[in-house]
Amino acid sequence: MRTGKRVAVVFGGRSVEHEISLRSAHTVVQALSQAGCQPLPVAVTREGHWLSGSSAQALLKGGKSPESGSNMSLLPDPRFRGLAIPAPDGGWDTLPVDVVFPLIHGIGGEDGTLQGLLELADLPYVGSDVMASALGMNKRLHRRLWRSAGLPVLKTVEIHREQWEQDADGQTRRILEEIGVPCFIKPSGSGSSVGVGLAHSSEEIAARMQEAVRYDEYVLADRAVDARELECAVLGNRKPRATTLGEIIPQREFYDYRAKYLEDTTRLVIPAEVDEACLKTARHLAVEAYLCLGCSGLARVDFFLDKLTGELILNEINTIPGFTSISMYPLLWAHEGVELPELVGQLVELALQRHADARRICRSLP
Ligand SMILES: Nc1ncnc2c1ncn2[C@@H]1O[C@H](COP(=O)(O)OP(=O)(O)O)[C@@H](O)[C@H]1O
Ligand SMILES: [Mg+2]
Repeated sequence: MRTGKRVAVVFGGRSVEHEISLRSAHTVVQALSQAGCQPLPVAVTREGHWLSGSSAQALLKGGKSPESGSNMSLLPDPRFRGLAIPAPDGGWDTLPVDVVFPLIHGIGGEDGTLQGLLELADLPYVGSDVMASALGMNKRLHRRLWRSAGLPVLKTVEIHREQWEQDADGQTRRILEEIGVPCFIKPSGSGSSVGVGLAHSSEEIAARMQEAVRYDEYVLADRAVDARELECAVLGNRKPRATTLGEIIPQREFYDYRAKYLEDTTRLVIPAEVDEACLKTARHLAVEAYLCLGCSGLARVDFFLDKLTGELILNEINTIPGFTSISMYPLLWAHEGVELPELVGQLVELALQRHADARRICRSLP
């Protein structure tokens, strides 16, 4: 079913995770070829221009895009059944596509906006739909949903930017009373640890809050747990499967931006050394957390394992996890015996299945 499918891999983008997306795309494009698909790299530059062909290839190979301005586009028009290329007569030609593989991490790729455009274009795409993507990028709301489903989440205080700007002292007192220090301050919609900080005092709370409100209008203040960081890879639509756990061991105070991308001292341990009961609980929780948000295709579910109590707590979900050859998501599946070409092949099939399922929804009056 997947053989010969034309798969547009959309990568790059305007988010802080542009670089990592390039590396993810490099891996995925190769794996798609090995899976018998026809990959079609589509680069989105930092300026938001859409490029295909040799311009996209150049960016993929780590170079600069040779020209500015878009040489292709994605139009919200289902008649195209693919991507749109400017024609000499001023109109548009079609570059036919069977499936789109969004690989832009963070804002403008993982948050439901790109997925919305793909829905309007009526193109099948890999991963979660608009709603689940938007929820996945919104820590405040996905935690609320998990909590109301009885899943274990951290105690947290939600603060809106306006509340902070109007009464910083009052909000600091609220954090100290309800959470205490040390606490983690983070923008609700962050990624790559951008704007995430640890605070040990009211002065540090103020400084971290000031920083966090730059990245989102909602900020969370979490109880800081002394924890091991464990991650689980989930794959599937309505009956998803979960892998064993991988452990992240940063050599810094926490898994911050430096530890993620600038230093390579962080250790990844697969499989994580945990007992059978913990692994069983984690797998179960990962699938429940995934289904609770209505995810499809893939996601990486991240946990804290409290060193003091042994409790497993859900931290967050990533609906477009890193996909480089040394990223946790593909490594976890490789450990389960699902190598990269098989993994991307399954993702293409899941995308086609979900698109076919969505067509069963009645859109007209009886
Ligand atoms: N409540 C917490 N307790 C302990 N460590 C935390 C907490 N919140 C965040 N961290 C640390 O900060 C890192 C980034 O936070 P996270 O919420 O995962 O945001 P991001 O989406 O940017 O990855 C985590 O991997 C962890 O190292
Ligand atoms: Mg994280």
